[in-house]
Amino acid sequence: MFRSHTCGELRLSDVNKQVTLSGWVQRSRKMGGMTFIDLRDRYGITQLVFNEEVDATLCEAANRLGREFVIQINGVVNERFSKNSNLPTGDIEIIVSGLTVLNASLTPPFTIEDNTDGGDDIRMKYRYLDLRRNTVRANLELRHKMTIEVRKYLDEQGFLEVETPVLIGSTPEGARDFVVPSRMNPGQFYALPQSPQTLKQLLMVSGFDRYFQIAKCFRDEDLRADRQPEFTQIDCEMSFVEQEDVITTFEGMAKHLFKSIRGIELTEPFLRMPWSDAMKFYGSDKPDLRFGMKFVELMGVLKGHGFSVFDNAAYIGGICAEGAAHYTRKQIDALTDFVKRPQIGAKGLVYARVEADGSVKSSVDKFYTQEVLQQLKAAFGAKEGDLILILSGDDAMKTRKQLCELRLEMGNQLGLRDKNNFVCLWVIDFPLFEWSEEEGRLMAMHHPFTSPKPEDIPLLETDPAAVRANAYDMVINGVEVGGGSIRIHDPKLQAQMFEILGFTPEKAQAQFGFLMNAFKYGAPPHGGLAYGLDRWVSLFAGLDSIRDCIAFPKNNSGRDVMLDAPSELDLSQLDELNLIVDVKE
Ligand code: AMO
Repeated sequence: MFRSHTCGELRLSDVNKQVTLSGWVQRSRKMGGMTFIDLRDRYGITQLVFNEEVDATLCEAANRLGREFVIQINGVVNERFSKNSNLPTGDIEIIVSGLTVLNASLTPPFTIEDNTDGGDDIRMKYRYLDLRRNTVRANLELRHKMTIEVRKYLDEQGFLEVETPVLIGSTPEGARDFVVPSRMNPGQFYALPQSPQTLKQLLMVSGFDRYFQIAKCFRDEDLRADRQPEFTQIDCEMSFVEQEDVITTFEGMAKHLFKSIRGIELTEPFLRMPWSDAMKFYGSDKPDLRFGMKFVELMGVLKGHGFSVFDNAAYIGGICAEGAAHYTRKQIDALTDFVKRPQIGAKGLVYARVEADGSVKSSVDKFYTQEVLQQLKAAFGAKEGDLILILSGDDAMKTRKQLCELRLEMGNQLGLRDKNNFVCLWVIDFPLFEWSEEEGRLMAMHHPFTSPKPEDIPLLETDPAAVRANAYDMVINGVEVGGGSIRIHDPKLQAQMFEILGFTPEKAQAQFGFLMNAFKYGAPPHGGLAYGLDRWVSLFAGLDSIRDCIAFPKNNSGRDVMLDAPSELDLSQLDELNLIVDVKE
């Protein structure tokens, strides 16, 4: 028997018990004739005591143990003289009588502590050691608990978990695919699923009216803090439902997760915001509503007073940062630099302070009378001590996006984005299409199977860009944690959709024939949603990046530095796959 207890288990009530523990040496301290070792496993830390006077040989062996050695000990539980209230096992220690070294360890390249001395790269290279750290382990434990609660909730609601294949065919639209060559079919490739979207729709045709899967998805996209090339969805689909049914079911799941995992009872229905409002008032389809600073449009107030920047603008808008009038010139210059960064791209920033006497002082005072500046103040309902920040531009949507970045930055600077405060909302009524500059055509905003709003169907012929979709995203604290839609189940409507997307009937048949044919055999009305599991876990854990809740993540260049993947293939392997690699410079 390797152990009778774990390293996190023993308490005062166990005093005098004979025990066996196994674990890793966290640290050791020598004090006079005594050696103390902290023994660690995933459940906790227990202090071991070796006494030179009692057993010199044993104590000598303990002194030779290095960090991260794997050992097994026998001993008796003893009440500690100086207790450690920071440790759950801090009232006891083990007086060791037997020690076996199960395995030695090299000195680890970084300390296995909460605040480690290891940088990102080294920790990723030795991720198996990083995972020994409490903080990282806790994230995986949280992830486990969340998947259990997800399964519990969905099972209670009658959902059936079905696995779908990972080697599938490539489908256009959406992100880039990862592809896998087929040995048995020379020159042909599988694609890894970006999501099980079409497969879950086929399951609806099969009559599995409530499906879910905790599914690995693969997308060859540029990476960000909330994006990994390989990530996990809680993927769901339901038949005989309308948008309201799907929203109710998955709002229920969100509330269940908040309650069971974070102990937060959310009783009110989540706010629903049309996409057009989200863009107009927050410049984003995933607004962070933990704080205000709603955009105010200022064309009516500030245009036509001789300030050419504003006079020539297609959009002028601003935010009001309450109580931020104390911002110094230097701080405002820094904000100006922030919005001018190439990734944001604003040309400049105008500010106006509401002074203690109620007057308004702005960076463009010479163009505006105090009367106009008072109108500006009124437009925001601003009061003494507030700071108004204004951007303008020749493209309303672009300028709103810049203002969104500024708003989020001000939220950060003013401490308004508390990670323990959660504000959830549904963004609804997304446009069905968006214009792609790159492709010079309309693209599906969500995916080509998303249903238009019934009342907007006539617009498909006349003004497709104005058609709204029966699509919805759930947003928490500015993070899109999930999204879905009601699907098209009418073959005629689907054909019209492909036509607008620029597919010839032949191309549509070649790419999506399997789905369109299936729909000829009695497809039920259906819809669904997928939550991003990694994003949910990192929100609940308060992480800055989803990487930290993934056991073996990829770095920003899509590499697994521990496995050193991706890598080149042997010539023999390439031959077998009928591939010739000719890497373009
Ligand atoms: P969508 O593309 O919106 O919808 O994805 C659903 C959710 O998955 C998460 N997500 C990601 N998480 C980490 N890394 C990524 N690269 C990544 N991409 C997406 C997000 C997102 O909200 N088939 C549809 C769903 C449906 O219509 O049912 C789909 O995949 O949290």
